[in-house]
Amino acid sequence: MLDKTSQLLIRQQLFTSDDVLLVNAQDAYAEQTGAASHYLHWGHYQQFGDLRAKFGAEVQQRATQVVLYVPKEKSLALMLLDNLAAVMQPTDTLYLVGDNKGGIRSLAKKLPANWGNCIKIASGNHCLLYSTQLLEPAPFNLSSYLTPYLIDTADKTLKVFNLPGVFSHQHLDPGTDLLLQHLPLSISGKVLDFACGSGVIASWLGKYSSAESIHLSDVSALALQASQHTLNANQVQASCIASDGLNQVAGNYDWIISNPPFHTGKNTDYEIARRFFAAAPSQLNKNGRLLIVANSFLPYPELLGQYFKTVVEKANNGRFRILEAH
Ligand SMILES: C[S@@+](CC[C@H](N)C(=O)[O-])C[C@H]1O[C@@H](n2cnc3c(N)ncnc32)[C@H](O)[C@@H]1O
Repeated sequence: MLDKTSQLLIRQQLFTSDDVLLVNAQDAYAEQTGAASHYLHWGHYQQFGDLRAKFGAEVQQRATQVVLYVPKEKSLALMLLDNLAAVMQPTDTLYLVGDNKGGIRSLAKKLPANWGNCIKIASGNHCLLYSTQLLEPAPFNLSSYLTPYLIDTADKTLKVFNLPGVFSHQHLDPGTDLLLQHLPLSISGKVLDFACGSGVIASWLGKYSSAESIHLSDVSALALQASQHTLNANQVQASCIASDGLNQVAGNYDWIISNPPFHTGKNTDYEIARRFFAAAPSQLNKNGRLLIVANSFLPYPELLGQYFKTVVEKANNGRFRILEAH
C-alpha cells in the first residue's frame, strides 16, 4: 500500500518521462513508476529500493523531475533543498510533497532564495503538492551542516558533531547523559552502540572504557555520517553499520548499549524497542549484557523480562532509568 503522499502524486500524472528521482520516499512508489530513488532510511531502502535505488546522506544524481518527500524536521528539509540545488538545473522541476501537518506549508511559503516561487498543484487526503524551479545552482558541502558541541559530564568531555534530522541535534539528550554517568567500569570486549544517533555513546566508550572493538548501528544515513565525524573528532576507531533493528549487525557482542528509539505521537509506540529486545539475546555472547536508558514511564523492565533471565535497574532519576539485562 502506497503512502498517501505518493497517492496524491499518482493522481496528478506529473511524470513526462522516466527521468524522475524520488528523494526520501517512504514506500515502493519508485519501483512502481520506474523512477530512480534516494533513501535516507536503511529500512525503507531495503524494503522498497530496486536496482536504481541509492542509500546515503547526500543525493548525488540529477533528474529532470525530482520529488522531495518533505521531512518534518525543517532544518533537514532546508539542507535537502540545498543538496538538490547542487545536482539539479534551472530547466528541471522540483515537486515538494508532504503531510499538511509536516511543515510543508511553511516551507513552501519561504523557500531558500535560490529557488523560485512554489506553485500549489494539488491537495488531498491531508497532503499538499507544490512545484518549483531552481533559479541558481550552488555547490553543496554536507560538512558545513555539521553542528559541533561539547559534552561535559561526569568530569569528562566529548566533542560531538551532529547533522540536521539526527536525534539530539544541538545538545546532549538528558537520558543519554544519565547513561554516560552510569556506564559500568566493567565494559570491555566487543561493544555495539545500537541506534547510535550522532555516535555519542560509542565515542565516549572509545575514549573512556576498555572496550576492545566498537561498533555502531543506525537506520539513518545522516546519523551514520554524523557518527563518523564524532568518532573522528575524538580519535576513536569503530565500524558504522547501516541496519534496521539488529538485522545487519554481526553478533557475538559482550555489550550492547543503547538509548533505543520510541515514538510519541497520539500513542506511545515502542515496537522498534520490543523488536530490538527480542533480537538482542542472540546477538550477545554467553555472558553478554544489554544496557539501556529509557524514559521511566516505559514498561521496559517487563518487556525485557520476556527475553532476558535477569533485568536490573541500575539508576533512576524519576525521568529516565538505566536497565541492565542478561
Ligand atoms: C533516542 S535516539 C538515540 C541516539 C544516540 N544513541 C543518543 O543517545 O544520542 C534513537 C536512534 O534510533 C534510530 N532508529 C530509529 N529507528 C531505528 C531502527 N528501526 N533501527 C535502528 N535505529 C533506529 C534513530 O535514527 C535515532 O538515531
